[in-house]
Amino acid sequence: MSKNFKESFEKTRTAGIIAAGALDEVSKIAQPGVRTDEIDKLCYEYINDHGAYSAPLFYRGFPKSCCTSTNHVVCHGIPSDKILKEGDIVNVDVTALKDGWHGDTSRTFEIGEISVKAKKLVRTTYDAMMKAIKIVKDDIYLGDIGATIQKHVEAEGFSVVQDFCGHGIGQVFHKEPNVLHYGKEGTGEKIKAGMIFTIEPMINLGNYETKTLKDGWTAVTKDKSLSAQFEHTIGVTKDGCEIFTLSKNK
Ligand code: MF3
Ligand code: CO
Ligand code: CO
Repeated sequence: MSKNFKESFEKTRTAGIIAAGALDEVSKIAQPGVRTDEIDKLCYEYINDHGAYSAPLFYRGFPKSCCTSTNHVVCHGIPSDKILKEGDIVNVDVTALKDGWHGDTSRTFEIGEISVKAKKLVRTTYDAMMKAIKIVKDDIYLGDIGATIQKHVEAEGFSVVQDFCGHGIGQVFHKEPNVLHYGKEGTGEKIKAGMIFTIEPMINLGNYETKTLKDGWTAVTKDKSLSAQFEHTIGVTKDGCEIFTLSKNK
């Protein structure tokens, strides 16, 4: 690995560990009765206390430090006084900016006991992300990632959101390439060792279509069906990839 990769990998790893640590803290309070703005406060403080900045805060006018996307919210939910209740699912998406580099990760948390269907949706979304991460290495195609996710998800009867995608990341929060979570093997750009990007599939129980609410951020499923998401930031190596945003607890 060139000297350049070394610095970008080290710095993204440092940011990624902070972002994952914030979600580990969130997992402790993600219970019935918690408000989404309490989750936001915890993320803000954890990230600050670790010498980093919450990249979502004021990003293109976003008002909070993380995204909290509940039930039929696909992504970019804005933390508020909304109280989470038994049976909800909530995706919490955090991005730490440390020493000029970003680490971006999200998990969907189960609030108390959730339905069997919701559990299957959350499980399938996580498995689809991990399956895609496992095929990543130097010289595969971006389309291989999308195809892996789409096949896994559609076999379970769920659908892949097309309006949002993973992204290159580094000193810039969102950059090329776009990492689609659907597609065909052997198509698109080839990925190369040293590239750093996110894989962050949003998977719906019903139809794949989304719309954005009047607040300009909150994306929801058009049919109001449940949506789940997980996200890791990864760095491509010759024979595989490094996940920068792994939890220390797993
Ligand atoms: N973290 C989100 C992503 O995975 C982006 C959030 S942008 C915000 O790319 F402004 F909504 F916070
Ligand atoms: Co992202
Ligand atoms: Co994110």
